[in-house]
Amino acid sequence: MVAIVSTVAYLGLEARSVDVQCNLVAGLPAFVMVGLADKAVAESRERVRGAIAAIGLALPPKRITVNMSPADLPKEGSHYDLAVALALLGAMGIVDAETLSGYVVVGELGLDGRIAPSPGVLLAALHAAETGRGLICPAAQGAEAAWAGNIEVVAAHDLIGLLNHLKGDQLLAAPAPGDVEAAAHGPDLRQVKGQETAKRALEIAAAGGHNLLFVGPPGAGKSLMAACLPGILPPLDAAEALEVSMVQSVAGTLAGGRLTRTRPFRAPHHSASMAALTGGGLKVRPGEVSMAHLGVLFLDELPEFQRAVLDSLRQPLETGTVSVARANAHVTFPARVKPAMHVH
Ligand SMILES: Nc1ncnc2c1ncn2[C@@H]1O[C@H](COP(=O)(O)OP(=O)(O)OP(=O)(O)O)[C@@H](O)[C@H]1O
Ligand SMILES: [Mg+2]
Repeated sequence: MVAIVSTVAYLGLEARSVDVQCNLVAGLPAFVMVGLADKAVAESRERVRGAIAAIGLALPPKRITVNMSPADLPKEGSHYDLAVALALLGAMGIVDAETLSGYVVVGELGLDGRIAPSPGVLLAALHAAETGRGLICPAAQGAEAAWAGNIEVVAAHDLIGLLNHLKGDQLLAAPAPGDVEAAAHGPDLRQVKGQETAKRALEIAAAGGHNLLFVGPPGAGKSLMAACLPGILPPLDAAEALEVSMVQSVAGTLAGGRLTRTRPFRAPHHSASMAALTGGGLKVRPGEVSMAHLGVLFLDELPEFQRAVLDSLRQPLETGTVSVARANAHVTFPARVKPAMHVH
């Protein structure tokens, strides 16, 4: 029998459906995973083995095959663990495959059966809501998932708790959405003495969303005034807050599911690499320019940045998006920023 559990692959701010299929056939005992999995996904086999042993079950002495479909879509990250475990338990007849089909499943497993947080849960929840299903996720991220609105969120601490919930023995409480933090205030423009022209330029840039370049002698207050910029920008509206949170969710920095109304303010150091600034690298994570989406990207000591790094910012600043091309996938992140830059 083949058990199928739905999960997602993250491509930028998009969550694509991935099916985890598991079947058990007679043969030499083995546990194989196929379907273009990266190292973290391949290691998931050992975590699943450990977690299933931790709840007191033995793997069946058969050939276990786990396939991730579509097989040509690269799978990255550790959030597939839980889907693999549930597909395996479905194939073993421990959980009802019918029940599982109503959920999208994300979460990393510990060897003791604990379900640990992994980035991107908000995106998975929005995807589940779009496709009319519920979401099974780590307990620590229930508040984040609940932001997706009208969907059933099952946020479990560990595998045993989740199995009890799915069987209907001991139901888990539905999580409530996290708090919305009011806009935080940094330094205030009132602190800045004089510099009337520079202040006016700052206000015009804030109102019109323009880029800004400060040039001046050391100690003139350039860094101070740039830090005042978030304070005169309007707070994020509800839709913008969700958009910023989606970027933070894939970056794994959305603590406690708390959405914030504060506009992002990112000030990468001038030694930052191109991958750190525009995104990409071994694991595709949003770069500083995407983390500053709908907020401010502040490049202090502009001439000290590597030339290639500054050039790589041209396309994002012009189009408002970053496209990272990988060997087998294109990933796009939003990057609409109002950068304040400065040189002296
Ligand atoms: N116009 C001003 N009003 C109030 N404080 C100021 C003003 N100008 C400078 N300062 C203070 O002087 C110190 C140095 O300012 P800041 O670091 O902003 O200068 P800077 O122009 O960025 O210098 P550098 O070019 O060396 O980076 C800060 O502590 C800042 O608070
Ligand atoms: Mg400075």
